[in-house]
Order: sequence, then structure tokens, then C-alpha cells
Amino acid sequence: MKVTVFGIGYVGLVQGAVLASVGHDVVCVDVDEEKVKNLEKGIIPIYEPGLTSLVEDNYQSGRLKFTTDSKFAVGHGDFQFIAVGTPPDEDGSADLKYVLAVAETIAKNMQTPKIIINKSTVPVGTADKVSEKIKTVLAERGEVIDFDVVSNPEFLKEGAAVNDCLKPDRIIVGTVNKHSEEMMRELYAPFNRNHDKIIVMDVRSAELTKYAANCMLATKISFMNEMSNLAEKLGADIEAVRHGIGSDPRIGYQFIYPGCGYGGSCFPKDVQALVRTANDIDYKPSILEAVEEVNYRQKNKLFEYLDRHYQGAIEGKTIALWGLSFKPNTDDMREASSRVLMEKLWENGAKVQAYDPEAMEECQRIYGQKDGLTLVGTKEAALKGADVLVICTEWSQFRAPDFDLISNSLNEKLIVDGRNMYDPNTMEKKGIAYYAIGRGRSVSK
Ligand code: UDX
Repeated sequence: MKVTVFGIGYVGLVQGAVLASVGHDVVCVDVDEEKVKNLEKGIIPIYEPGLTSLVEDNYQSGRLKFTTDSKFAVGHGDFQFIAVGTPPDEDGSADLKYVLAVAETIAKNMQTPKIIINKSTVPVGTADKVSEKIKTVLAERGEVIDFDVVSNPEFLKEGAAVNDCLKPDRIIVGTVNKHSEEMMRELYAPFNRNHDKIIVMDVRSAELTKYAANCMLATKISFMNEMSNLAEKLGADIEAVRHGIGSDPRIGYQFIYPGCGYGGSCFPKDVQALVRTANDIDYKPSILEAVEEVNYRQKNKLFEYLDRHYQGAIEGKTIALWGLSFKPNTDDMREASSRVLMEKLWENGAKVQAYDPEAMEECQRIYGQKDGLTLVGTKEAALKGADVLVICTEWSQFRAPDFDLISNSLNEKLIVDGRNMYDPNTMEKKGIAYYAIGRGRSVSK
């Protein structure tokens, strides 16, 4: 089937490549010429396991094309995916200017019926706005051409996006009629073989499903972070509590890991956007507001540990930092807890010696030649001459480090662990002071 994807960002590129890999004929279009040229040379704009070879193979086979020519792109696909960004406005609501600009482009250029699919995370009611925009432009053109706007939100996790897209848990399809439902079933048939993963509903429910899913996950994390703060004050160990509650299948083990806060391109933005949507309809979203507040506080926690440890005299200290990305297996530092920590440290006159397996270039891009920031090539090099070690991201290569080397390299035998990677008993035996999240015994109160 012929597919066009507008927006060669994270979502669009993964979706386009995966659709091509099952045999669809896909054109990905973007306004960024350099990005398109690079993709044609096999240079992929993001780090995502498995994506480079998937893009290359399908590009070589001719099933996946890249272009800046939107007229050609609109002409190509019976399906037109909108996968452009929806950055937060100043007030936290999702900015729809790119989505509506694509809708306008499609409407200006379409000659045959189209299924227009919203893949971007967009507020409830956006499909109606896209529909209105297309109707208006078609009317201006004096044309009557059939189209349906479908909501089909993505549920990709960074670091596992290709696999999530190839083997989705569910395919949410919000449609207005049977025709578009049938077309969508046909498009996704290759992903729907063993059991039916397609869940069809009305468009508004599909739009809300995406926000509800991410907000539910963010709520689990903030809830656990709140429990971890209680555990800390009460002298309990949140890791024991996590095991204890996760064994109840109604609660489950996933997304109950306490830590130094959630980041990334989805949770912070989506929680804020749903708060904003609720405010717009005069509903006070108490739970969502609390989820955000707890996360905000949690991101400041590692600095608070250090500040307390040094009794406010952190100026001149050098902090070894392991992990910059918002989670492992990505180079993405959007809303990463490491940024909050580093910025606080710099504000207070401390220096950072940082290492991350993937996000060093991204860190350089964000902060440039920043005074107080040294990026080093190995986790061991980050320790040299540093006072203490802080961990912000649970990369697997940090799981079993050489603790003797850590002790010998640091001026103080202290690890501040934002991801609860180590056993406090082992740390005690090794003579290393250990501040972690919600581990009553080990954290100075
Ligand atoms: C998330 C959703 O998982 C995905 O379904 C959606 O489509 C996009 O948003 P992503 O942002 O890639 O995906 O990362 P995810 O693995 O969900 O982690 C988000 C943040 O939560 C990270 O900062 C992570 O460290 C934190 N987290 C996650 C916790 O602090 N505790 C947990 O138990 C799980």
C-alpha cells in the first residue's frame, strides 16, 4: 500500500521504516533538506537501536524514500501520516502549528481520496481541527475530494522503538467510519497476525488514550517517588517495598522504580498538556498536578543530598557524573534529571566531570564549552580528581563497577545514586558512604 509520512523525526522515521519493512511503499517528507540528504547517504539523525540498518535496507530496496517535495509526497500516499512535532507552548499546551501546516499542505495538493492519520501526540479535538482545516482549503480550491482523519497514536519507547513498532502491544485506531477502519486494518494487517491487537474506537477516545497511558505511567513513577521519600524519613527501604507491592499482579513490577525523576520527550510534556486541557474545560486535575510537583521535587533530590552533605559549602567541589541521558540506551537529554543536577551544581560553584555511553555529543550540543563542565571518554576518567560520584542514568555498564577503583579515585568515598543500582550492604562493607533514593538506612536525614 502507498504511504506518506510527514515529519522525519523520531516517530515518523521509525514508523516509515517499519511500514516499509513489511512491504508498503513509503515516502517520508520533511522540510529539512539537510536531514533528507543525510538520510539518503545513510546518516540517521537519532540514535535508536536497529534503526540504521532498517532504514538502509529499505532505502536500498526502494520501498523507503525521502524527500522535501511535499506535492510529490501528497500525490504518493493513500495514507498520509502526520508525525510532526507538537512542542509545548509557553503555557504547557501542545502547539499545533506544525500539525495544521501539514493538514494545509495535504489539502492544497491532494487530487485523490486520502486517509489522514494523526500519529503525533495531539490534544483531544485535534482530529476535528485537522478535518476543518482540510475542508476549508478544499472549499477554497472549489474541489470535493473524500478524506477521513484518523487518530492512531504511537506508543514507542526510546531505545526500543523499532521493536515496539514491529511488535506493538496494541494498535489504537480512532475512526469516523467503517471505510477508514477497514483501510487501517489492511495497512496494519502484517502487524496483527497472531492475535488481534487493533482496538477501534471513536477519534476523541483514541486521542485521550495516548495521554491517559503516559499520564498513568508517570503517575506510577511519581507515586513510587513519593513512597521513597516517606521510606527515607521512616527508616524503611523502598526497594523492599517495591518488591513487596509489585508481587501483587494488580500493581505489577513495571514502572514502579523510584529514582531521580522521569524525563524524556513524552511524560513531562504529556502530563503538562493534559493539565492544560483539563484547565481549559474548567476541571482541576489534582492527581496530574501532584504527579508533576513530585517529579519536579525529585529532580532536585540529588543536589539536595550533596548540598546537605557539604552543609551548603559545595563551591569548588568536583562531581563525577555517570549518565546524562534521561534513561539508558538513548542519547536523548530532553528533560533529563542530569540537566537539573548539573545546572544546580554550576549555580552553586561546583564542577562536573561527566561520562555517558551515548549522550556526550548531545551534552556538548546543549551546553557547548561550558565552564565547570568536562566531558570525558570513560566512566573511570570521570572519577579522576573528583570529590564524589553521582549516578543519574542506570546504564548497564554502571551495574558492576570496580568499587575499589571508585574508592581510590575519589577524594571522598561517597556515591550518590539516583537509580538505586547498588546494594547498601555491599557499599557499607566497602567503606563507601552511599546515598540512594528512599533507602532509609543509607541516606543521611
Ligand atoms: C514513554 C512511554 O513508555 C512510551 O509508551 C510513550 O510512547 C513515550 O513515553 P520513553 O519516554 O521513551 O517512553 O521512556 P520510558 O522508558 O517510559 O521512561 C520515561 C522516564 O521514566 C525515564 O526518565 C525513566 O528513567 C523514568 N522511569 C521509568 C522511572 O523513573 N521509573 C520507572 O519505573 C520507569
